[in-house]
Amino acid sequence: MKKILVTGGTGFIGSHTAVELQQHGYEVVIVDNLSNSSVDVLDNIAKITGTRPAFEQFDLADQARTAKFFREHHDLSGIIHFAAYKAAGESMEKPLEYYRNNTGSLINILEGMRDNGIRDIVFSSSCTVYGQPDQLPVTEDSPFKTAWSPYGNTKQICEDILRFSSQLLPVRVIALRYFNPIGAHESALIGELPLGVPNNLVPYITQTAIGKRECLSVFGNNYNTPDGTAIRDYIHVVDLANAHVIAVERMIREKCKSRMEIFNLGTGEGYTVMEVIRSFERVSGVKLNYKIVSRRPGDVEKVWADTRLANEELGWKAVRTLDEMMLSAWNWEKALAQRQ
Ligand code: UD1
Repeated sequence: MKKILVTGGTGFIGSHTAVELQQHGYEVVIVDNLSNSSVDVLDNIAKITGTRPAFEQFDLADQARTAKFFREHHDLSGIIHFAAYKAAGESMEKPLEYYRNNTGSLINILEGMRDNGIRDIVFSSSCTVYGQPDQLPVTEDSPFKTAWSPYGNTKQICEDILRFSSQLLPVRVIALRYFNPIGAHESALIGELPLGVPNNLVPYITQTAIGKRECLSVFGNNYNTPDGTAIRDYIHVVDLANAHVIAVERMIREKCKSRMEIFNLGTGEGYTVMEVIRSFERVSGVKLNYKIVSRRPGDVEKVWADTRLANEELGWKAVRTLDEMMLSAWNWEKALAQRQ
């Protein structure tokens, strides 16, 4: 059985990817420091797949500890690196923590790969590297725009580190640029678990609907879009997780066309904030309490993916609709409420 390291595997996207990997016959080892996730996720992965993944709790920014891990796991067939801080707003208050954590952990992992002959890494990148693109839908060869936040900058820097590493070391990379991952596993056993007040739209919507929050603030309705609210390309987290399995298989089966490949992962469809709210109301039957407030600093007006490269090269396509995304997110929020 091929063994894959999933860093950040108890987090939102990592946990869904661990499930899909196990269901495709891979052995999964999770490393997570639990800074933004719960150890209970492992039990829920086991409920879905029948197998509890191996788990080690430590901080990948710790160089000596990470080196020890790689010595013990030199038989890894590949790595999917999710573990990172990801809140743009928070990174404005803690810039150095973001730089140290996000770039430091990547460097430690690359050292572990170099020193133990592990070749393949899939990296979690983000459409944030594009900023507000000049052309939509945005293709992978669109240039990086100056980052608005240290968080976004760490994704750009990490891609640069990976580019040179792939040229100068025996390392091969697939960087996946996610658009807006939302939704939850159909079992409602795993999903997004924001600690404290959510920054992202969909957990804020479901928490408002269930009564944990009073009212959703819609950030701006004077954008140059059909209804004035900002447009994003929302993608179901299970579709996203499946793309990671395909990326790992592509590497193992020697299908990569260069030492570093980059793919957009989105649906290729953009929806406004109001369309997301309407979809939620439609599938849940709940009327959402919301108000329009001013724009959030750092938000781009509109972005959606050109997904042709992923469709053609990976043979992957997101298949789940916005309504399915919102229904699964709502079922997850309701399941959480029952558990608490
Ligand atoms: C955000 C981050 C992005 C990060 C991604 C994944 C910012 C500026 N961007 O993307 O860098 O990669 O999360 O974690 O933080 N909205 C509301 N009300 C809310 C929340 C959001 O109206 O309470 C709107 C936003 O203005 C935006 C859309 O909903 O138009 C989506 O927001 P969000 O879910 O936070 O994602 P992004 O900002 O696209």
